[in-house]
Amino acid sequence: MSQEPSRGISSAGELFTLIGEAKQRLSSVKHKLMVLSGKGGVGKTFVSTMLSLELARRSYRVGLFDADIHGSSTNVMLGLQKSSLYADNEGIHPVEGPLKLKTVSMSFLIESLDTPIIWRGPLKSRAIVELFSMVNWGDLDYLLMDMPPGTGDEAITIAQVVGDIDGAVAVTAPGLMNEAVVSRAIKFAKSSGIPLLGIVENMSYYKCPLTGELHYPLGRSTGEQLAKKHNSRLLARIPLDPSIDEALARGRPFILEYPDSEASKAIAELAATIVSLVEKPANA
Ligand SMILES: Nc1ncnc2c1ncn2[C@@H]1O[C@H](COP(=O)(O)OP(=O)(O)O)[C@@H](O)[C@H]1O
Ligand SMILES: [Mg+2]
Repeated sequence: MSQEPSRGISSAGELFTLIGEAKQRLSSVKHKLMVLSGKGGVGKTFVSTMLSLELARRSYRVGLFDADIHGSSTNVMLGLQKSSLYADNEGIHPVEGPLKLKTVSMSFLIESLDTPIIWRGPLKSRAIVELFSMVNWGDLDYLLMDMPPGTGDEAITIAQVVGDIDGAVAVTAPGLMNEAVVSRAIKFAKSSGIPLLGIVENMSYYKCPLTGELHYPLGRSTGEQLAKKHNSRLLARIPLDPSIDEALARGRPFILEYPDSEASKAIAELAATIVSLVEKPANA
């Protein structure tokens, strides 16, 4: 794929062909999960990267697709800023990160972290469809998709191209405004035929390391209400932890650097719950 697609999908026939190729490539993936929110800055990328690593730590073969074309940051969370994708006659090979996590992100195609990508909807859709038609994931147990904020072109294209998605994990954070916005993303997932696996409330609370006292700097919890409203479950509550940014700054994935932290333990429980929900026998 060229670094900048010059046009959108030109015909229904071309789209059909690319989608067919993408579906063929994805047939070696057992479970596909979408991490979405509707909202920016709530921790979708943190949750999707750390959840991917936690699944990889449990010996699953895991891939991560960063669908946030404008704000892609999975490379930073995983300490892969210097990596880039390469292609040969078998297709595009994902970057292999820590614990053999296979990652594909627009950020691996641009020159530097602050290079803006200024594409309109049709170009973004084309880039996503092309990537899925060309990436050679190999056999995977889990493919996670880290979504951009909103329910725009990227989300619609992925729902269409990937199809057959096992479920969506909706990430929220405390604060009145988050509830409505995350609700919209959940409705989008449901209307696209993607089951809601549950809600993750990130940045839920801050635990004072000296006194153990809990503080709620972002305000009112939204996870329980969202779960109730959408007849779903709260999968995890992840605390605010300043070490997350500190690990990022050093280019070290948080859960590998601080495996005993409360946030890492919440991610580990989240992974276990997701595995049990996704892998339960059909008649359970
Ligand atoms: N639980 C948390 N505690 C502290 N910082 C966090 C937490 N979760 C995410 N962050 C930080 O907040 C910022 C936004 O997170 P990110 O995952 O990029 O959000 P999104 O993908 O939803 O836009 C990042 O700098 C990230 O390191
Ligand atoms: Mg993000």
